Amino acid sequence: MFKTKKIENLNIPQHIAIILDGNGRWAKKRHMPRTYGHQKGTENIKTIAIAASKMGIKALSVYAFSTENWSRPDDEVSFLMKLPGEFEARFKDEFKKHDIKVMFSGRKTHLSKENLEILERITEKTKERQGLVLNICFDYGSRAEITEAIKIIAKKVEDKQIKIEEIDESMVEDNLYTRELPKLDLLIRPSGEIRLSNFLLWQAAYAELYFCETYWPDFNESELMKAIVSYNNRDRRFGGLKNK
Ligand code: IPE
Ligand code: IPE
Ligand code: MG
Repeated sequence: MFKTKKIENLNIPQHIAIILDGNGRWAKKRHMPRTYGHQKGTENIKTIAIAASKMGIKALSVYAFSTENWSRPDDEVSFLMKLPGEFEARFKDEFKKHDIKVMFSGRKTHLSKENLEILERITEKTKERQGLVLNICFDYGSRAEITEAIKIIAKKVEDKQIKIEEIDESMVEDNLYTRELPKLDLLIRPSGEIRLSNFLLWQAAYAELYFCETYWPDFNESELMKAIVSYNNRDRRFGGLKNK
């Protein structure tokens, strides 16, 4: 049973992550092509980012394209690869109005030159903003992220810049894409799937997990609020004892 619904009485998570899942099934239900669902899903990133920023959330990480999603049919992948350009063209004014800073997490080795330029341009243009940080995980995979961090650290050992004994958890964290973001508090997966699908595996170590049936294009402000209310009813112990 939810204890409260008033935002002023809620403990607002600093960093929320959402797996943007269910676009295809949302479209199928409407007898529309999967790409229509991706279109609506992209639009919804804007809606939820603005809602999150109004609630005082500091960072919102969204899983938009995974390192595994390249295995989808070519036409679907091509469509998804056009979304960064559309995102830039359609949302830039509203993000400016809400002082939203946009950053990207993911591999920079497989994307087209054109998309890399778009990502770079958006990052550069919004980097001084003080509002919500929208972290778009695009060609993101947690195992790739951790592997990359291991390589950077191993290179420092090889170059004798650090000793093996100096490697600790904070050094690993400093080499993840999310290094500048607050600790992950709440991870949401819509669409009824109960798995992480290679998303923020390290960062989610002590995040609260929230699963709901709603497909991502229908996930609105009130769904976000439900997740935050559920978060408020959790007892975060971090291995310790129950909070008094
Ligand atoms: C999420 O929706 C978007 C991406 C993975 C790019 P899906 O495309 O996975 O939609 P479902 O899960 O098939 O409904
Ligand atoms: C996870 O969704 C990736 C994104 C939402 C970007 P998928 O639809 O790709 O995940 P699986 O295949 O159901 O695990
Ligand atoms: Mg899916």
